[in-house]
Amino acid sequence: MAEENVLQELEDALAKGLEDLKSVASEEALLAWRNQYLGKNTAITQAFQSLGKLSAEMRPQVGQAANRVKVALEAALAERSESIKESALAASIASEKLDVTLPGRPMTPGRLHPDTQMLRELYRVFGEMGFQVYRSREVETDEYNFQLLNFPVGHPARDMQDTYFVEAGERGDNPIVMRTHTSPGQVRSMREYAATNPENPPAIRLVLPGMCYRYEQTDARHETQFDQIEGIAVGEGITFSNLKATLSDLARRLFGQNVRTRFRASYFPFTEPSAEFDVECFLCGGKGCAVCGGGWLEIGGCGMVNPNVLRNGGYDPERYSGFAFGLGPQRIAMLRYGINDIRYFWENDLRFLEQF
Ligand code: DAH
Repeated sequence: MAEENVLQELEDALAKGLEDLKSVASEEALLAWRNQYLGKNTAITQAFQSLGKLSAEMRPQVGQAANRVKVALEAALAERSESIKESALAASIASEKLDVTLPGRPMTPGRLHPDTQMLRELYRVFGEMGFQVYRSREVETDEYNFQLLNFPVGHPARDMQDTYFVEAGERGDNPIVMRTHTSPGQVRSMREYAATNPENPPAIRLVLPGMCYRYEQTDARHETQFDQIEGIAVGEGITFSNLKATLSDLARRLFGQNVRTRFRASYFPFTEPSAEFDVECFLCGGKGCAVCGGGWLEIGGCGMVNPNVLRNGGYDPERYSGFAFGLGPQRIAMLRYGINDIRYFWENDLRFLEQF
């Protein structure tokens, strides 16, 4: 009889526990419920304590029943605990007051650096004109940066481009340098295209953007680090008028139909003839201001690719001709946005950068 009571008490505890649980609505009440039904002194603990005194026949029955009740109550407890948490959360959200008349918090989206914006616009304009972007390397050998461009060792024109050396020592006449201009990419790209068909190298029309480095005194128009966009077009029958048309067209696309441009005869070892390309400063109407200096802003050099350079690139100068140019995107951005000092570009001053 006593043995059957134990089983009955377990069933009663289960039924009553589940029934009581229905009215439990807070964390504290849940804790009290847990002590009452799953604590130290309950029908379940009593059943376990009584096992030793039971007959061999009843022992497994009571043991299993006690376990079943315990597992069932624990599961019900976990479920209830979850739902109490959920309704507490819902209540706290419901009680929050939302004032829809408050001003919003301003978003501060990132933006592109003015130089990046300028470069992207140049890629777009050059793309429309049929030029592809070619990326050449920033760390160069003396051979590519100078010798293959017709600046032999000791050539005086090297003085125009004070150079940062990365590694000299053992390398003799061919030290590793930070490129001083994007022109070495001319020879690298020509060689790459010529290699695809050495007997009949394909015509090319490329722009080669990138950073250049010079050991220079900085001022409003000179920095030790700056961008250039090199351009090169090689094919049969290319003339100086193609060069003039390309750069004049570029200026009109960038600055408008009425912009005035001029080509001044100049000298570069890798082009013959060579010129400098200026755009009239429309900030001062050509009178001369802090951005331009003397009314015109020099935005690059250009010329017909020197026959030696064509040959170094794998193109026979008897058959092919080409033009090249090297532009300063930051100079162009200065003119366009009225920036009067090139050193602003890399100073990372937010007061400057946030204007673009
Ligand atoms: N590489 C020259 C420099 O940085 C610029 C230049 C001049 C590039 C004439 C050219 C060119 O391609 O034809 O001073």
